[in-house]
Amino acid sequence: MLILLNHPLLTHKLTQLRRKETGTKDFRDTLKEIAGLMAYEITRDLPVKAIKIETPMATCETNELACDVVLVPVLRAGLGMVDGITNLIPSAKVGHIGMSRDHKTLEPMTYYSKFPDNLSQAIVMVLDPMLATGGSSGEAIQVLKDKGAKTIKLVCVVGAPEGVRKIENDHPDVQIFLAGLDKNLNESGYIMPGLGDAGDRLFGTT
Ligand code: PRP
Ligand code: URA
Repeated sequence: MLILLNHPLLTHKLTQLRRKETGTKDFRDTLKEIAGLMAYEITRDLPVKAIKIETPMATCETNELACDVVLVPVLRAGLGMVDGITNLIPSAKVGHIGMSRDHKTLEPMTYYSKFPDNLSQAIVMVLDPMLATGGSSGEAIQVLKDKGAKTIKLVCVVGAPEGVRKIENDHPDVQIFLAGLDKNLNESGYIMPGLGDAGDRLFGTT
């Protein structure tokens, strides 16, 4: 299921990210801010438990988070979203999955993975700024399911309809969060108008 986030601050920052003039430092800072803003919606349904605490004035019946959260950035570009979310959920554990997309076939290839051991009871958030064909995110989700993950949310910044359809079809149990849904993919598999190559823009490579 697609959840397209719509908030003036998010839209404004996504516009900054898309601009070709935005350099590496501003791209990195803005991607982190966007991930933090998205976290507010992504975490809306996290379970809480009732607790009693003491304020300076009285006993207070309140709630605190009652779940494990695991973030899984898809390398490389997903790394740029981690800090924005761990700032808000410091208890989150972080796994990593390295995927690279073949430039000709657009098929994803997994070159690295390392996950914490609480995947099966955690709320797992797969982070990748770009959902193009959906090959990389879809494969990352499958690897996590094979390792026991049961509740998975896919958090991307910009998506193409092709990628959304693929995830909805292959993983109907996974919620997809986007800050922008673009028109289509070009013949090289880039999102149009998109923001270019997220990994290159984040790390200053070409
Ligand atoms: C990019 C991007 C996604 C993937 C999206 O990664 O960060 O992971 O492509 O495309 P898809 O939906 O068609 O799979 P890339 O393979 O370029 O690796 P990088 O992040 O290391 O640059
Ligand atoms: N990966 C990117 O970084 N950008 C795109 O537009 C598509 C895939």
